[in-house]
Amino acid sequence: MLILNKTAGVFFKPSRRKIYAFLGSFHFHPGKLFLHKLVLGIETSCDDTAAAVVDEAGNVLGEAIHSQTEVHLKTGGIIPPVAQQLHRENIQRIVQEALSASEVSPSELSAVATTIKPGLALSLGVGLSFSLQLVDQFKKPFIPIHHMEAHALTIRLTNKVEFPFLVLLISGGHCLLALVRGVSDFLLLGKSLDIAPGDMLDKVARRLSLIKHPECSTMSGGKAIEHLAKQGNRLHFDFQPPMQRAKNCDFSFSGLQHVIDKMIMQKEKEEGIEQGQVLSSAADIAAAVQHTVACHIAKRTHRALLFCKQRGFLHQSNAVLVVSGGVASNLYIRKALEIVTNATQCTLLCPPPRLCTDNGVMIACADQIDQRDN
Ligand code: KG4
Ligand code: ZN
Repeated sequence: MLILNKTAGVFFKPSRRKIYAFLGSFHFHPGKLFLHKLVLGIETSCDDTAAAVVDEAGNVLGEAIHSQTEVHLKTGGIIPPVAQQLHRENIQRIVQEALSASEVSPSELSAVATTIKPGLALSLGVGLSFSLQLVDQFKKPFIPIHHMEAHALTIRLTNKVEFPFLVLLISGGHCLLALVRGVSDFLLLGKSLDIAPGDMLDKVARRLSLIKHPECSTMSGGKAIEHLAKQGNRLHFDFQPPMQRAKNCDFSFSGLQHVIDKMIMQKEKEEGIEQGQVLSSAADIAAAVQHTVACHIAKRTHRALLFCKQRGFLHQSNAVLVVSGGVASNLYIRKALEIVTNATQCTLLCPPPRLCTDNGVMIACADQIDQRDN
């Protein structure tokens, strides 16, 4: 966290008025007239190096992304110094690709927006120092972006959503339920007490050696579980959703993960195979795991929706639940959440899958979404 703490000290958020005054100017380039504010967004908080150029209307002019998933699959999880090195190797190219695709040169940018927290300190540091050099070289304003706020506000790019709304962020590093009352005005209602659901799915997929499964070898753990679950029968295994009696909106996944690990070990004994080989019952296990995770997430979200409705925290007739993060691209989990929103007369909204996972567009837009509403 050293880099993060240091940078947090250096990059206190500049006043919005100052940034917007600057952004209000437009840029003239021989042969091209830019009437738009053009923001370059840079994201390196975890294992994706991503960049995008977006104008103030939310049009994506160009984007590029480099995913480290394949490398981390081989090393059995994210090793922070490895992630840092891969960000260093790719950031220049990815930013250049986003700028080239948008036909915008760095001097034509209105500002550079970059994720400053939360995330892996070593990964964040790469995006931050690259952005610093860029803003220094081209004399551009810097917009520090909170990764979770960006995830939560992404939906406003594709849907007209009024504040307040409930947001569920579920990914490899995040798991939280929050009432979004405005930009930068979040009331945290629940969070994971241990690991995030994507982290758990990644661990289960690794324990099942799904990297050796011909259909799943290049998929992230969560995606592999979803893919395999379609071929399995969830009723062959019975896992209990965690925290069934807890009277709050928190989550927990590591206890369930240990139960699953034990069960996999037992199955390996029964089938007479070594750890590292794919069980014949892997698809059934994947289906049961996905179902249990979906139930847990849906039940905790149901509690949060009821709580918000009871307290009048959400619009009575038009309450909205926004779900985002990598795990939100799982269609089975979305279905479970749809049951909950139907039962509570709420609307379920999810950004398209490419905007659910980490990306540069949500970073470039986070501050502009804010501006459009003020
Ligand atoms: O949001 P994201 O790209 O990165 C962060 O963690 O911030 O999410 C990645 C996580 C991984 O744990 C991955 O296994 C999970 O999202 N994931 C999925 C699916 N696709 C990605 N989990 C369940 N179902 C999926 N289809
Ligand atoms: Zn994320």
